[in-house]
Amino acid sequence: MEVVITADEPAAATVVAGVVARVLATRAAPVLGLATGSSPLGAYRVLVEQVRAGRASFAGASAVLLDEYVGLPPDHPEGYRAFVRRHLTDLVDLPAARLYGPDVWSGDLPAACAAYDRLLAEVGGVDVQLLGIGSDGHLGFNEPGSSLRSRTRVKTLTSRTRADNARFFAGPDEVPRHVVTQGLGTIGEARHLVLVACGAAKAEPVAAAVEGPLTASCPASVLQLHPHATVVVDEAAAARLRHADYYREAYAGKPDWQTL
Ligand code: GLP
Repeated sequence: MEVVITADEPAAATVVAGVVARVLATRAAPVLGLATGSSPLGAYRVLVEQVRAGRASFAGASAVLLDEYVGLPPDHPEGYRAFVRRHLTDLVDLPAARLYGPDVWSGDLPAACAAYDRLLAEVGGVDVQLLGIGSDGHLGFNEPGSSLRSRTRVKTLTSRTRADNARFFAGPDEVPRHVVTQGLGTIGEARHLVLVACGAAKAEPVAAAVEGPLTASCPASVLQLHPHATVVVDEAAAARLRHADYYREAYAGKPDWQTL
């Protein structure tokens, strides 16, 4: 795992966008795993600017969602497909038909979950999966207790996550209780995991995920098992990392030939 500590949120966004831009530029048919929440928004803004300036293109890419609420109508603005379209994919040259997510409206959720895992394999796997982290250490919507080898499935949100996400809805009672999320095992099949977290509220879950024990109680600790995981944090989110000085030194001394 590599930990990159940046001065602030815009600098973190630039690092994350740089990873995605490199995948777009170097893969013939790149597959991007997109996250929702506030954390990836800065990177999405940078990528949109790059596409508008003609410096990046999603024309050959596919994009896959990490998770989706269950119970919202398909056109609900806070559904994750709508969120990702609004903040990224409708603003760049990604063909609309190549944005994939679990079909939570099919009426058969277990079948939809299994179909989504198959689809991820059929598109060739995910080149880079962007991730945020929940205040309880969740990854996607894999709440504490999630099997470290779980597949895409239905999960029940904790009341803490529903309270955290209430800001996107009229109130806490409007936040769905159920979701479909890529499992931790599914997420781990992406070739590169990039977690971005900024702000003091993320310091505790980031420290638990990066330096705490590998445990289902902190689902994001599964990053420790991945051969290519990058954690991009600003100074505030890095505040509780014991080895922060080492991470800074390693990143500052990175040779030109060693990419993230
Ligand atoms: C939601 C999403 C997660 C995201 C988390 C953190 O629960 N399902 O993928 O990481 O929120 O959100 P934020 O980035 O807004 O703090």
